[in-house]
Amino acid sequence: MTKNNILVDEAQGILRLDTANTTYAMNISNGLYLGHFYYGAKIPSDDLSYKRALTTPMSEEALKKDFCVYMDSTDFEYPGWGTGDSREGAIKVRDGNGVTRTNLLYKGYRISSSKALLPGLPSTFGTKPGESEVPTLQIDLEDPDTGLLVTLFYSAFYEEDVIARRVEVRNNGKEDLVLERVLSASMDMPAVDRDGRDFELLTFYGIWAREFTRDVRAIGFGKTGVQSIIGKTNNKNQPFLGIMSKGTTQEQGEIYGLQFLYSGNFASYVEKGPNRGIRVSMGIHPEEFSWTLAPGEVFYAPEVVMTYSSCGLGKMSRSFHDLFRKHLIRGAWKDKKRPILINNWEATYFDFDTEKLLSIAKKAKECGIEMLVMDDGWFGKRNDPDSSLGDWWVNEEKLQGGLARLGGELEAMGMKFGIWFEPEMVSPDSELYRAHPDYAIAVPGREPSRSRNQLVLDVSREDVRDYIFTGMSKVLKSAKISYVKWDMNRHLTDLYSAALPAGRQGELLHRFVLGVYDLQERLLSAFPDLLLENCSSGGARFDPGMLYYSPQIWTSDDTDAYERIHVQEGAQTLYPLSSLGAHVSVCPNHVTGRIVPFKTRGHIALAGTFGYELDITKLSSEEHEMIRQQTAMYHEYNDLIRTGDYYRIASYQENGFYDCYGVVSKDKSEMLLTFIHVMNQPCMPERWICIKGLDPEKLYAVEQIDDSTEVPSQKAEKASSDSDRVLCKAHGATLANAGLVVPCRYGDFQSVLYRIREVKE
Ligand code: DGJ
Repeated sequence: MTKNNILVDEAQGILRLDTANTTYAMNISNGLYLGHFYYGAKIPSDDLSYKRALTTPMSEEALKKDFCVYMDSTDFEYPGWGTGDSREGAIKVRDGNGVTRTNLLYKGYRISSSKALLPGLPSTFGTKPGESEVPTLQIDLEDPDTGLLVTLFYSAFYEEDVIARRVEVRNNGKEDLVLERVLSASMDMPAVDRDGRDFELLTFYGIWAREFTRDVRAIGFGKTGVQSIIGKTNNKNQPFLGIMSKGTTQEQGEIYGLQFLYSGNFASYVEKGPNRGIRVSMGIHPEEFSWTLAPGEVFYAPEVVMTYSSCGLGKMSRSFHDLFRKHLIRGAWKDKKRPILINNWEATYFDFDTEKLLSIAKKAKECGIEMLVMDDGWFGKRNDPDSSLGDWWVNEEKLQGGLARLGGELEAMGMKFGIWFEPEMVSPDSELYRAHPDYAIAVPGREPSRSRNQLVLDVSREDVRDYIFTGMSKVLKSAKISYVKWDMNRHLTDLYSAALPAGRQGELLHRFVLGVYDLQERLLSAFPDLLLENCSSGGARFDPGMLYYSPQIWTSDDTDAYERIHVQEGAQTLYPLSSLGAHVSVCPNHVTGRIVPFKTRGHIALAGTFGYELDITKLSSEEHEMIRQQTAMYHEYNDLIRTGDYYRIASYQENGFYDCYGVVSKDKSEMLLTFIHVMNQPCMPERWICIKGLDPEKLYAVEQIDDSTEVPSQKAEKASSDSDRVLCKAHGATLANAGLVVPCRYGDFQSVLYRIREVKE
C-alpha cells in the first residue's frame, strides 16, 4: 500500500517512509516483531528481501530453543523488557503481580494523511496546528499477556527531511499497569558509516553562562550519551544526539540527528554491543518516572524528531531550522519580526524605579529601540533574590503609580512594554508561602533544599496553576504589556507532591512538565498577541519543547560577545537564529570582564532576536549613534536572518582565529555574511573564505556594509556612495571556490558584515 510517501509492502514485510532525500524502513521480523531495517540516504523502492535474507530469520523450532539469542541479536524498532534482549529497553511495564516482562508483538498498521496534535504536549504540525497534513504511519504492537497496546507514530516531513516519532500506550487489559519506562524512540542501526568507519557521537554540554559547548566522542562499547535528572532540561546537556562519521564537517560526512520535544528529565543514549550495531534511544528518563495506567487509559510519550544528512552538519542544521520555524513554532510572532528590546537586568539589577526605567526607555526610543523589558525585582518587596517570588503584585514603593503609569508613559512614548516573571517559583519569604506552604514541592517533615533561596511550586496541581495564572493575568491586564520573559532558576529536588498518593509519586516530574505546558498554553490563549520568551538562568531550559510555546528563548546569561561566538554557534547547530535571544551589553562584560568593540557586539547579536541589556543613559553619544545604525541594520536584515538558510563557513572553535557564517535567502538572491577576526595574528594579512550557500550560476555583488573599526561618522559618509562599497562582482561558483579574501584588522574581536546580492549579468 502506498500513500503520500509511505509504502508498506506486506509480502516483504517492509514498512517505509520517504522524504526528499531519506528513507526510513522497518521490517516485520520473523512474522512476530517490529524490526529496524534501514535509515539513511533515499533508496529506490526495490525488493529489499535480499537484505533480509542475509539476516536469516530463525525457524520456528530454532526460535523456540534459542529465543534469547534471537532477542539479543535482532535489530528492533521498539524493544520491550525481560525477554532476553540485553540492550536498553524502550518500554517496561509492571502488572498487578509485579511482573515486568513486556513482550511487544507486531499487530498491524494504518496510514493517514494527517498528523494529530499531542494532548498537553508540544508537537510538530503541518501547515498550522489543526491543519496537519503530514503523512503518518501508525504501527500497533501488543503484549498479549497484559493487554498493553503500544502505537508507534511516524510522520514524514518531506521537504525538511525529518521523521517525527512518538508513542502512545493504551491499557486494554483488565487491571492497572504501571509504566516504569516509556521511551519515545529506539533504533538499532549499524555502528559504522558507509565508509565502514565507526560512528562518533556529537552532543552539546555546558553550565551556567557557558551553554551549547560542542563535544565529539568515540562510541565505545557499552552505553554513552546525555541525560537530565533535575526535573527539567538543563544547560549541562542538550536533548540531542548526533551520530556521525569521523571528521564530519559542515558539508561532508553522514550524520543522524535526533532531538526530543520535551522540557523535563530525559535520557539519550547510544549503546554499542559486541556484534555489529548500536542502539540509539531517546525519551523521558526512566529514573524518577512511573505512571499508573488504569484499564482504558492512554499515556502519550513526547515526540522525537530525526533527520539524516549524507552531506554534513550544515544540512542537518538547516533541516531542523526549517522544521522548527515552519512546523513547531506557533502563534502571532511565528513569522514576524520581533521588536528590538532593551532589558534593564544588567543595567540596574534590582535597583530601579519608574523614573530610572523611563529614562532608559526615552534614550532607547531615540536610538530606535522599540520595547522596554522590566526584569526581576518589580513585585512584592523584592530588592534582592531572597524574597517575594509568588507575590505577583507590583511594588508601588519602587514603581509609583504602578504598572498602569509606567505602561501608559511607555505607550505615550511609542515604546512597547515587557515584563519578567518566574511563575514556577516561590520564595519562603513571601505572602504566598506563608499562606500555602503546601504549594511548594517538599517532603513533609524534611527541610527542602533551597536554591537561590527559593523553592519550586508544585505546578502539577491545578489549584497551584490557577493561583499562578490568576496572578499573572491580573498583572498583564493592568497595563498594556506586549512581552513576557518567563524565567526558571533552579533544579527540582525533594520530590513529593501533596496531591499524589504514595504509589503515584513517580508521576510528579512528568506532571510538572505537563503543568508548565498547560500554564503557558493558557497564557497564550488568554493573551494571543503576547510575545513569550522562555529563559532558565540563561539557556538552562532551551529545548524544542519550549519552542512550541515561545518563538524565542534567552540563550545565555553570558552576554560577552566573544563567548557568544561559541554559545551561538552551538545553539545554531540545532535551532533557528530566529529563536536565539541575543543582546548587546556593556564592557567590561559583567560575566567575564572582557572588552569587545561595540560594533562587534552588535554584529554578533544580529544573529539572534537582537536587543540591548545595558544602561543606555550612561553611554557616549558615539555609542548612541552606533545603536541607531545597528537598529537600522536590524530592520534591514532581520527578515533575511529570520527566514533564510544558515551556512557556517568557518568556526573559531576549530581554527582558533576567526569565525564566519552567513544567512542566504531561500531564493538565493541575497546573503548576509558575518566575519569575525576573533584573534589577531602577526604576519597574517588576510583570511580566505569560501562562501557556501549561493547559487553557483548567479552573479552577485559583494558589498562591505559595516566594519567594527569604522567610526560612525565615517560610515555615514560612505553610506552616500553605495557603489563604492561594492568590493567585487562574481558568480556564486567563483565565490564558493576561489572565495573571498578578508583583510585582517588590527586588534582582537574585530568584525565585518558583507551583503551579497544577486545582480544582472
Ligand atoms: C536569570 C536570567 O537568565 C537573567 O536574564 C535574569 O532575568 C535573572 N534571572 C533575574 O533574576
